[in-house]
Amino acid sequence: MTAEKNIFNVTDTNSRGYGIIKDNGKVIFVAESVEGDVCRIEKTDEKKNYSTARVTELITSSPYRINPDCPCFETCGGCSLRHVSYEQELKIKRNTVSSAFRRAGISVDVSETLRPSPDGYRNKVSFKVSGSRIGFFKKETNSFISLENETCKNAPGIITRIASEIAEFAFSQNIRIEEIVIRRSTGGMLSAQIIVEGSEKKYDSLNCFSDRFASLSVKNITTGKTHRIFGEGGIRTEAFGLSLFVSDESFFQVNYDGAELMFGVISSIFSDISFDLCADLFCGTGVWGLALAKRFPDKLFYGVDLNESAIGDATRNAEINGIENITFFCGDASMKTDLGSPDAVIVDPPRAGLSPGMIDTIISIKPDNLIYISCNPFTLARDAVKLTESGYSIKTVIPIDLFPRTEHVETVCLLCKQ
Ligand SMILES: C[S@@+](CC[C@H](N)C(=O)[O-])C[C@H]1O[C@@H](n2cnc3c(N)ncnc32)[C@H](O)[C@@H]1O
Repeated sequence: MTAEKNIFNVTDTNSRGYGIIKDNGKVIFVAESVEGDVCRIEKTDEKKNYSTARVTELITSSPYRINPDCPCFETCGGCSLRHVSYEQELKIKRNTVSSAFRRAGISVDVSETLRPSPDGYRNKVSFKVSGSRIGFFKKETNSFISLENETCKNAPGIITRIASEIAEFAFSQNIRIEEIVIRRSTGGMLSAQIIVEGSEKKYDSLNCFSDRFASLSVKNITTGKTHRIFGEGGIRTEAFGLSLFVSDESFFQVNYDGAELMFGVISSIFSDISFDLCADLFCGTGVWGLALAKRFPDKLFYGVDLNESAIGDATRNAEINGIENITFFCGDASMKTDLGSPDAVIVDPPRAGLSPGMIDTIISIKPDNLIYISCNPFTLARDAVKLTESGYSIKTVIPIDLFPRTEHVETVCLLCKQ
């Protein structure tokens, strides 16, 4: 605190967009403030170890502060860093990854964050629907926030506009929608999955969108039925030098440019290591394994994922691309221990990271190289502790900004058997 009462210097920013003040050894997280701000604040919550606060008067504005370019920024909760310059955001994300490792007790050099274009990058958006309006739920609540006449800045404008058209049309037809999920291919093709609840209705009128979408399906979460109105129930896209089909139910990387950067990192790791058999665990539609199998045709690969639809897509994608040195299996990756002895393993788990069983499986397989792709630096660092205690050392940690303007950061980490 400065000499005048209640005036504070913000000394850091975290990836959730909170400025950090240290006040007599206690941390205060200040909403939507930035390192370098000098401000008056009002506390909004007081916990034992920290407080939260909001700015009541900005006395000096941080050089890293910018005007948020989205009117929904304060309410929607999808973005957390639209009030910070993009250059500073990349530094904040690198710090987030470093501090996750530091807090886990691991000292490691973290590379600079790789940057894709920060605008309009999402190829998939799920919109909540209320009546004829689309929007999002306010973060960690079920309060609907309408996009009104705005488009989501993180996605190409067409995605918001077309979702809005569907919501209005369906409302006029008495079809009550819970959610609309739009996907866009690299070539600009669109698919829609419409989520409804309750008793079945007639959805045929949605056929009128057949000239705008490659595929449109209605999924009723009450009856569990999916009605394919037209198209293949997914989208075809080009990525990583492959032609890919992605079903509505399968995971796919949401940022094409960012995922290409990530594949560049993974591919250069594989150029530098020696291996004969690679396991792509948590493989989804098989993208990493397939792109590597194409690049290294004299090596063998297999992929494992729990999701049947993703494994169906992965197998189909191998066929579409004529790739024969990869096989896919559906199941829990931690249980698939009977598939040979891979000397390279890729893991790309959900945010919860690796289960203790999965870590035991890796330790029993003992691959020479483990490529850990993570969307949560805290679970990555937690798992890295167990892996380093079991004979692995960390060679590289590379953050990639797959989700610009949000709190999220992706990391590729190479661990090698000592
Ligand atoms: C972050 S996604 C990564 C998918 C893929 N590597 C990609 O980049 O497109 C995580 C994947 O893990 C799968 N998954 C979750 N738990 C699993 C488990 N226990 N065993 C195998 N796969 C699992 C999900 O179905 C999902 O496809």
